[in-house]
Amino acid sequence: MITVHDKIFIPFISRAEIQQRVHELGEMINADYDGKKPLVLGILNGSFIFAADLFRELTIEAEISFIKLASYKGTSTTGHVVTAIGLEEDLHGRHIIIVEDIIDTGKTLSSFLPEIHHRQPASVKIATFLTKPDALQYDVMADYTAFQIENKFVVGYGLDYDGIGRNLPDLYILKD
Ligand code: XMP
Ligand code: MG
Repeated sequence: MITVHDKIFIPFISRAEIQQRVHELGEMINADYDGKKPLVLGILNGSFIFAADLFRELTIEAEISFIKLASYKGTSTTGHVVTAIGLEEDLHGRHIIIVEDIIDTGKTLSSFLPEIHHRQPASVKIATFLTKPDALQYDVMADYTAFQIENKFVVGYGLDYDGIGRNLPDLYILKD
């Protein structure tokens, strides 16, 4: 058991299981993207560890870049808008693999994907370390998912509780 701030977390997915699964996702991407020189786009901060590990599993030619998302309320017609900070690459005609730490409700990605498509990439796929199927409220589907988990808060392997816990090599889940 570990304590992060005021909450208790218990071990959930070990670093060995994570490593094995990330290896498997890497093999799928190697098979799917051979000769396509994909651009891996990691979403900061949460995905930095997963993106680094996944990227090192790639044996094909590939590029990586990282962006931060900033969220603001748009007009009544545009609704909730999420925009990318630090996106300098030309995405036109590129094969994009977006890397996320977790898809929870799907709100973040569903608000951000239009901005990516607007730049006319050749293709867009999503790789996520975690999904919480029971929490999903928006129409986003990951193409590569390391683990589907129950609808509970988790920390470790890049994910934080109020800034703390990202450096834990294993994944922990909130104790009931
Ligand atoms: P949505 O709902 O937009 O949320 O898909 C995605 C973002 O919510 C955060 N999030 C979590 N962070 N443990 C965390 O450390 C969790 O269990 C968790 N669930 C959601 C996360 O920042 C993610 O990018
Ligand atoms: Mg977070």
